[in-house]
Amino acid sequence: MGRWVRSQQEAVEQALVRWVPERTPADLGEPMRYAVTGGGKRLRPLLVLAACEAVQGDPDAALRAACAVELIHAYSLVHDDLPCMDNDVLRRGKPTVHVAYGEARALLAGDALQALAFELLTPAQGVPAATQAELCRLLACAAGAQGMAGGQAIDLASVGRRLSEEQLRQMHRLKTGALLQASVLMGAACGVIARRAREALARYGAALGLAFQVVDDILDVTQDSATLGKTAGKDAADDKPTYVALMGLEGAREHAGQLLEEAQQALAASGLADTRALAALAQMVVHRTH
Ligand code: IPE
Ligand code: IPE
Ligand code: MG
Ligand code: MG
Ligand code: MG
Repeated sequence: MGRWVRSQQEAVEQALVRWVPERTPADLGEPMRYAVTGGGKRLRPLLVLAACEAVQGDPDAALRAACAVELIHAYSLVHDDLPCMDNDVLRRGKPTVHVAYGEARALLAGDALQALAFELLTPAQGVPAATQAELCRLLACAAGAQGMAGGQAIDLASVGRRLSEEQLRQMHRLKTGALLQASVLMGAACGVIARRAREALARYGAALGLAFQVVDDILDVTQDSATLGKTAGKDAADDKPTYVALMGLEGAREHAGQLLEEAQQALAASGLADTRALAALAQMVVHRTH
């Protein structure tokens, strides 16, 4: 699987460089490329490509979808790091976009990356219109008020508050889980899939999406900034509600393990012929070190 991951990551890197423009008015492309290239695990693109493989879908449509999700993710990081949000200076081992280019350009680069994601999903030819529409719908729902942006709003409104497990789960599902689940469903939308299998993939994506943010909360406590490529210990410093704050380190680890189990069970129930890449990515999400 290691080889599959590396070759797909390479394809995504090349496509991102090709699709994020160099020439733009007032060099806006520069902070856009800075935000997107040179770092990042590319986990969401890998999920798109793995799900597409599981349904033997169209690889060209999937590469567009993979890059589109990564652009939304990159934009969400640029805005997440802004002084009015998490006020972070380090991302992917480099100064954050607003530190390197100023707040206004960071804001605009984020805006433009979001728009570019939908441009990638709607080529003039090559992908059937119905597939384009479904991919746009999935991504828009996961990025908006009922997804990432809504979750980020809950996150900011929850600083210094104690959330119940139910409230914390809802926040994590929206701010991070939605885009990860959408990645899986977008990959599946590049092919034909039976309803039962799609429902199973949705369960896999939900479990993996939540596990991802539980692990992000754990790593914020257990790793150093050099390993993470972003500021460690930031959640506690900012008094953010996290799974570690709620259930302690061991409790959070145990919970991540349960979610991994749930994700693997959903894959087994999907009836899809080849879910090896999806299974490996679930392991990667939970056992990663950064
Ligand atoms: C970090 O996401 C931000 C969250 C959504 C928790 P990743 O850990 O996937 O970040 P990169 O893309 O690898 O930098
Ligand atoms: C951010 O969550 C989730 C996003 C939608 C970007 P965090 O604020 O925990 O992400 P990091 O830890 O800064 O990467
Ligand atoms: Mg944040
Ligand atoms: Mg943050
Ligand atoms: Mg975090």
